[in-house]
Amino acid sequence: MISALRGMKDILFDDSKKYLYFMENCSRIAKNYGFEFISTPILEETALFKRSVGESSDIVGKEMYQFIDKGKNDVCLRPEGTAGIVRSFIQNKMDKTGGIKRFFYYGPMFRYEKPQKGRFRQFHQFGVESFGINDIKEDATVILMLNEILSFFSIKTVLKLNSLGCPTCMPSYRTKLVKFLDNLDGLCEDCKRRKSLNPIRVLDCKNECCQNLLSKAPLLLNELCDECKSDFEDLKSILDKFDINYEIDVKLVRGLDYYSKTAFEFVSDDIGAQNSVAGGGRYDRLVEFLGGKSTFAVGFAIGVERILELIDVGNDKREGIYIGTLEKDGQDLAFQIATTLRKQNKVNVEFEVKGLKNILKNADKINAKYCICIGENELKNGILWVKNLDTKENLNIDIKSLGEFQW
Ligand code: HAM
Repeated sequence: MISALRGMKDILFDDSKKYLYFMENCSRIAKNYGFEFISTPILEETALFKRSVGESSDIVGKEMYQFIDKGKNDVCLRPEGTAGIVRSFIQNKMDKTGGIKRFFYYGPMFRYEKPQKGRFRQFHQFGVESFGINDIKEDATVILMLNEILSFFSIKTVLKLNSLGCPTCMPSYRTKLVKFLDNLDGLCEDCKRRKSLNPIRVLDCKNECCQNLLSKAPLLLNELCDECKSDFEDLKSILDKFDINYEIDVKLVRGLDYYSKTAFEFVSDDIGAQNSVAGGGRYDRLVEFLGGKSTFAVGFAIGVERILELIDVGNDKREGIYIGTLEKDGQDLAFQIATTLRKQNKVNVEFEVKGLKNILKNADKINAKYCICIGENELKNGILWVKNLDTKENLNIDIKSLGEFQW
């Protein structure tokens, strides 16, 4: 038997209902905020992710599904959505036309991580990216949207917030941090690598020993320039005004290199060690870094598998109609009725001839509200026997007036 690859799984049964319900409602909310749907290829040039997500990140360092294709191109299954959307933004000259562009997207992402609860090698994200706005109100907008999504699904989370500074304040902080790190003995191998590539990534190392060594590290929040400081204060006051609870997390640096200023994560206590449900932030330098015209940008992505653990779609409500056939001669009529009723209703039909008991059992199994059985009487009189599986009531409905019945 061939099984799915390790860390990859099918979305089916209850999860498939939850997945659709989640995507439909996220899309609806994103559209209400003025975001449009975008879909970019799953496979991109490896260089795109190396340059955007960054060489210091675990994603580029260890987790890329990278290979040489038949045309000898160095390609990679996307580990996240932002880089591809920025590539598309530049390629389609949206950086040149200026103005505001807001996109939402969903689909599979790939990271060769060690699989565990809530951590997969193929997982799904729903994300948004907003381009062209240099105003902290846009950061607040995407956080409010994310909060609205999580509230809609009654998901309890804590919002962690930090500012990662900008090209004005970051370089002097970086020098200070490197000086501090140079005097430390005993950092883990990952941190030693990060120290030379992107020293602030050392701050969020999960290794307890490193965290102890870092307890007196200089903090970026104390070193922000006036603009970053005032933006961060404004963001907090908007969140306060809209009753969004948050915790300042001075060591939140996010696992991707492209962020500046706002960085945030929503975490949940209910899903185990992999507790980050969604994350995002501002990335004002990425468009220019990938060869486009400098463009302000901010966004987030939600980890769908982690959300599916937390939502309930209420499976017990019966809906739709199940049609079964008691006679071979009834198959054409079953087909015809199903086609008519599908214009307004959810209809399941089975053509194989079965006994009444089996037909009712199958209707019950798929949680149908009504069961119609096509037998000799129905064919002869044009009157359908219909059972309401909620109330157990038996009804007789003339085929000619099927459309008028309130199913
Ligand atoms: P990220 O924090 O790497 O950000 O991923 C966002 C979310 O994807 C995480 O919070 C988590 O829920 C989920 N996730 C990540 N890795 C896995 C995995 N291996 N298995 C299951 N779920 C996972 C980004 O990807 C950025 N592109 C977000 C962003 C958009 N920033 C700005 N715009």
